[in-house]
Amino acid sequence: MTSSVVKRIGIAIVEQSGTYLVGTRGPDSPLAGYAEFPGGKCLADEEPATCAMRECFEETGLAITVERLLLRRDFTYSHARVDLHFFLCHPAEPSQIETEYNGYRWVPVNELPSLKFPEANELVVHLLKQMSFCQWTRDQVYLVPTTVNPTEIAAQIYSRVCRTDFTEPGFCVVNLGSSLSSVEFRQLMVDITRQMAIVHQRQTGKTLIYISAGRFDQQTTTRPHLDGGPEESLLMLGYEPTRVQSEVEISDYTQCAQHLGISPTEFMAQHNPMFHAGFELLRPYSYRLNEFDVAAYQIVVINNSSAPIDGKSWLGVLHTATILTPDESQRRVINSTMIAPALPGTPDVVPAKELEEFIQTSLVRRKGYDKPYLEDDVN
Ligand SMILES: [Fe+2]
Repeated sequence: MTSSVVKRIGIAIVEQSGTYLVGTRGPDSPLAGYAEFPGGKCLADEEPATCAMRECFEETGLAITVERLLLRRDFTYSHARVDLHFFLCHPAEPSQIETEYNGYRWVPVNELPSLKFPEANELVVHLLKQMSFCQWTRDQVYLVPTTVNPTEIAAQIYSRVCRTDFTEPGFCVVNLGSSLSSVEFRQLMVDITRQMAIVHQRQTGKTLIYISAGRFDQQTTTRPHLDGGPEESLLMLGYEPTRVQSEVEISDYTQCAQHLGISPTEFMAQHNPMFHAGFELLRPYSYRLNEFDVAAYQIVVINNSSAPIDGKSWLGVLHTATILTPDESQRRVINSTMIAPALPGTPDVVPAKELEEFIQTSLVRRKGYDKPYLEDDVN
């Protein structure tokens, strides 16, 4: 029988990088086994927003800040009538985020609809999906090739990354496992790039050339940024297995620019995410690479363009890395290459000898990731 007392409930929808903090209701609670956001009943005279923060901290140990009320709805269950207040929240200390909090984990927005939430939460899940502009499926982002075939891998990367509209992510991750050697890995990167050049020539009449190639030990946390390069360019980054934990996040600044009615270049001038306001603006356009696997050889390919949105130019995304466990005694090696379209017959900016050295060398530049002439290479 339904109680006539309406219970006020404060619920924390805790977002970070397009993922939301979700747990599972315990066996002793009503709706056991269902997915849930942190939250609970308001104490007497307690504001629902304060309740959401308190309940979140009690249930997960995570301190949060409330951004705004997202949705309020009355709902009648067979066991209770509830006045639900859903608040959009963020971790209070974004630099200290754990992967799990007392059974709660970060779930990408596009996976929320596949979880079994109580009926009263369905509307808010729908709303969260509507709010996100980065709803890529796992298959669109992650490639796990069963055989190492550069031609096939190149075709799959090309369709995802070399986009001229917003039907593709503009980035992807290729997980190649851990059984390669570093030299084989770099040779494969070059082979894939050459195959992508063939695809590009077939589609546009232009080829692709190397603008730069280098090996770095990168353990510096960055804000979302483009790497300096031609208006149309892509980054092919080869991550080698490491013990240094990190997270990589991609932000679709070009799509955000389009929604604002400005060009990608104007976006970077007016809303540079190196500053807080621009960073906040990009939140719904950001995608964290949740399945980034530091134990594997992985190629991350990123469209690094700043070209206008004209239906034929490449549309770029920003990238950022957060180093969770920097460690001077360990390496986090990135084989970093920049590639750009060019007229057929244009030579690589990287001389053939340097490219061969990029493949064969055992040297890694340890510091000054963005300073190409620093003399501190070590073996
Ligand atoms: Fe970068």
